[in-house]
Amino acid sequence: MKQALRLLPWPVTLIGTYAGGRHNLMTASWVSQVSFRPPLVMVSVAPERYTYELLTANGEFVVSILAADQQQWAEFCGSRSGRDVDKVKELGIKTAPAQKVKVPLLADCVANLACRVVSIHPAGDHVLFVGEVIEGNTPRLEAAPLVIKDWEYGRYTKD
Ligand SMILES: Cc1cc2nc3c(=O)[nH]c(=O)nc-3n(C[C@H](O)[C@H](O)[C@H](O)COP(=O)(O)O)c2cc1C
Repeated sequence: MKQALRLLPWPVTLIGTYAGGRHNLMTASWVSQVSFRPPLVMVSVAPERYTYELLTANGEFVVSILAADQQQWAEFCGSRSGRDVDKVKELGIKTAPAQKVKVPLLADCVANLACRVVSIHPAGDHVLFVGEVIEGNTPRLEAAPLVIKDWEYGRYTKD
């Protein structure tokens, strides 16, 4: 069973949250669209993450799809907590204000999806936050997205 699970490829995204004047980014691969109408996406967040704290405080998040050349951002934002470090500042990530949410968009990722939480579902050792996508943009439409399988990074390309 463990071997079978390891064959599931995941996207690599940064989840942006904002509350109390703090903007935080967390690497997340357990992210998926779950409805067309309305457009809904879910992200699975462990309760011990700083992201969980900001997400429950403000009820908004931004999913930023990373490009294959942004693996370093994924590694940093996936191993350090926003409780200890300002990840946006440390990595020099450029942001742009969103129109409909307080969470800033990332200026140089493949795409941003700004979401408002519509439901929350406990799921084992994680919690699923389902958000309605209310705004989006595509700063690097042509870039190959970063993906991961069995904890090895790769890039998505068409055959
Ligand atoms: C490739 C990768 C994917 C990850 N996916 C998730 C995820 O989907 N959900 C989650 O809660 N943590 C995930 N993590 C772990 C968090 O990114 C990590 O614990 C991070 O330091 C939490 O940051 P925060 O405390 O600032 O929220 C992932 C880490 C990596 C490297």
